[in-house]
Amino acid sequence: MKIMFIGDIVGSPGRDIWKEYASKLKAKYKPDLTIVNGENAAAGKGITKKIYHELLEAGADVLTMGNHTWDKKEIFDFIDGADKMVRPANFPEGAPGTGLQFIKGLRKKAAVINLQGRTFMPPIDCPFRKADELIAIAEKETSVIFVDFHAEATSEKQALAWYLDGRVSAVIGTHTHVPTADERVLPSGTAYLSDAGMTGPYDGILGMEKEVIINKFITGLPGKFEVTKGRSQLNGVILDIDDQTGKAVSVKRIHISNEAPFFD
Ligand SMILES: [Fe+2]
Ligand SMILES: [Fe+2]
Repeated sequence: MKIMFIGDIVGSPGRDIWKEYASKLKAKYKPDLTIVNGENAAAGKGITKKIYHELLEAGADVLTMGNHTWDKKEIFDFIDGADKMVRPANFPEGAPGTGLQFIKGLRKKAAVINLQGRTFMPPIDCPFRKADELIAIAEKETSVIFVDFHAEATSEKQALAWYLDGRVSAVIGTHTHVPTADERVLPSGTAYLSDAGMTGPYDGILGMEKEVIINKFITGLPGKFEVTKGRSQLNGVILDIDDQTGKAVSVKRIHISNEAPFFD
């Protein structure tokens, strides 16, 4: 089966480019399942119920999240009923929502897991041990297991991918908003990419207005981060997974920007 994953949607520019290309990407790559990271979808921080539905209606089958999960307070009102959303599974016990969902693809049911790193990030439970726990549950239901690993450090991302090699179909990184070029299928069949990159503004700094961030680096003074306007980009991956074994056959990056126009 084919899985399309789209990296962090940032604000309205991210939602707009996702809506613009979702059906074109589906026509080109024919994914059986589409997974979108929505942690920055509402003005760059968090997600609202309306936007959750908007991203699904545009073509996502399920949304993954990250460290910005709780930024919009209304998340607490709807996350427990949001059966098409996963938030990092290793948030400490008692956090609402779930880090594992089974989602029906066109060909087969897949387990979708979200985990968050701990290096240069807030301290939370161990993503490695949480992965072991969730894989034991997931593999009883399906051989196709997708992991969005929301983390800062490429070393931690590589470590999790090698730790899970052969036990999950893919470990795809998110959070840095910068796509990496290290896509590969590891020897035991897990597809890996350190970071899928973001979907939203092309000319900002990680999607935000440049001036405030440059000023922060120079003066050390805080500023209000706002999603920038102008040109947009879309980043993600297409995974080809063997339906029977759950092992990855290939992983290819998707990048749409001014430098890389979309061709159908
Ligand atoms: Fe993000
Ligand atoms: Fe993040």
